[in-house]
Amino acid sequence: MTTATNPRVLITGASSGIGRELAEIFARNGYRVLLAADDDLLDKAVDELRATGAAVDGHRLDLAVPDEVDRLAAWTQDVAGGVDALVLNAGTGVNGAFAGSATGLHEQLKVVDVNVRSVVHLAKLLVPGMVGAGHGRVLITSSIAGVSPGPYNSVYNASKAFLSSFAQALRDELRGSGVSVTTLMPGPTDTLFFDRAKMHDTKLGQSSKDDAKTVAEQGFSAMMKGTDHVVAGSFFNKVQSVAGHLLPDPLLAAVHRRMTMPGSGRR
Ligand SMILES: NC(=O)c1ccc[n+]([C@@H]2O[C@H](COP(=O)([O-])OP(=O)(O)OC[C@H]3O[C@@H](n4cnc5c(N)ncnc54)[C@H](OP(=O)(O)O)[C@@H]3O)[C@@H](O)[C@H]2O)c1
Repeated sequence: MTTATNPRVLITGASSGIGRELAEIFARNGYRVLLAADDDLLDKAVDELRATGAAVDGHRLDLAVPDEVDRLAAWTQDVAGGVDALVLNAGTGVNGAFAGSATGLHEQLKVVDVNVRSVVHLAKLLVPGMVGAGHGRVLITSSIAGVSPGPYNSVYNASKAFLSSFAQALRDELRGSGVSVTTLMPGPTDTLFFDRAKMHDTKLGQSSKDDAKTVAEQGFSAMMKGTDHVVAGSFFNKVQSVAGHLLPDPLLAAVHRRMTMPGSGRR
């Protein structure tokens, strides 16, 4: 049973995968949950969570469209009067040679717009309210992909490098404000991501994956503790994350290309 005094969270990318699991965890922890995503799965997530007795609202939008992001922030204010927690989780990827015809300009720019631009946009609109209130928790879903250049996922990996840097800088600026920023860094996780990025014929697409619920639980726990970042999932992800800081970029790129080159899964 939620009341007007329950804490409120906005979660982007809450219709499937890691965001959907985070929505369930927040609801279980007594939050009023505001969910944002782009397709019919959002309505299903809202219905399922409401059926558990949670207070849930959903807002459909395309995060790649700045006007729609403005409307999401205004809706958040109208529906809940602001948020105590903000989960900037939505993300998308594209696999294929950047200079080849298999990837289009529009879809590459959409990765930038959703993964980077919408995060900056929503943080700029919603974090000042949290600072004004003197408390708040922010979780930004980056990736261990952000520690390595990503041939055939070049824009995606670069977008995640941006997010990791942005989150750490914002965290530092907000020291003493009562608002913490945590970076969630999953490795390969069993969600719709690889389908949507058309990565089934790559070694990475076919590799073993972490469970989205486990990743979400680790993200939630780190966020609530105010930890700066968490590398979620398998021990191998932690090794990769450390290697990303120790090894030279050309070597990291060469290793990555073996995992993400289209057709690599058939060799
Ligand atoms: N799966 C992995 O291996 C992995 C690893 C590291 C990091 N991550 C990151 O984890 C986050 C969540 O991804 P996931 O793995 O859970 O994949 P997912 O199941 O595909 O979920 C992605 C979510 O983002 C939303 N989204 C994508 N484009 C959108 C747009 N233009 N407008 C509004 N919402 C949009 C989707 O909503 P709709 O369905 O409504 O479009 C969906 O709710 C992403 O940031 C991803 O980069 C994933």
